[in-house]
Amino acid sequence: MIVIQTSSYEELSRKAYELMRPVLIEKPDAVLGLATGSSPIGLYKEMIADYKAGNVSYKKMISINLDEYADLPVEHPESYRSFMNRNLFDHIDIDKANTHVPDGLAADKEAACNEYTAFAAAHPIDVQILGIGANGHIGFNEPGTSFDAHTHLVELKEGTRRDNARFFDNDIDKVPTHAVTLGLADIMQAKMIILIANGTAKAEAVRRMIQGPVDTACPASVLQTHPCVYVVVDEAAGYYVK
Ligand code: GLP
Repeated sequence: MIVIQTSSYEELSRKAYELMRPVLIEKPDAVLGLATGSSPIGLYKEMIADYKAGNVSYKKMISINLDEYADLPVEHPESYRSFMNRNLFDHIDIDKANTHVPDGLAADKEAACNEYTAFAAAHPIDVQILGIGANGHIGFNEPGTSFDAHTHLVELKEGTRRDNARFFDNDIDKVPTHAVTLGLADIMQAKMIILIANGTAKAEAVRRMIQGPVDTACPASVLQTHPCVYVVVDEAAGYYVK
């Protein structure tokens, strides 16, 4: 793992984009593994700005998102499909038909999960963007998830729902109880991973991810065994790993 310390969220976003950019330039048909949450928003702004400057085209690219809430209508402003459209896809030239977000509404969730796993396996991710939960989750792979897991339905931990209540009028009861996520085994297939973490709330999770044992208690610790991971942090999130 290569840890890159930065001194502001803007610098963090720029550094993350500097790492990602060569893939976009060298591989016009790259497969992008994308994440939601507050952490990658600055990186998405960098992607949009460079696209608008005429330097990159997403016309032939494919994106595969990590996760989606279960049984939340896609039109809901906080569905991860809505998030991706609003924060990235609506502002670049990617073909929406080539953007993939897990189906949280499928009646047969297991079948939909297996299809998503098969799609990801057939389209190896060139660069995977990740955030990290305060409890060390990546995607929605909560503590205790097997490192061998593929796309699956998860019951969200109360802490995760509390963290995400800020997007649902600060009302935990409005936060979906379940989600569908790519599994850790799927994420580990990515050729290169860029994990972004900012703010004090992430400091302990970042420490456990980098310095703790490789243990399902901290799902992100599995990244210690991946050959190409960049962890881009601001001072607060990187506090324990200086
Ligand atoms: C969310 C998402 C994750 C994200 C993490 C951190 O619940 N499912 O993919 O990385 O939690 O989110 P944020 O970047 O908003 O802190």
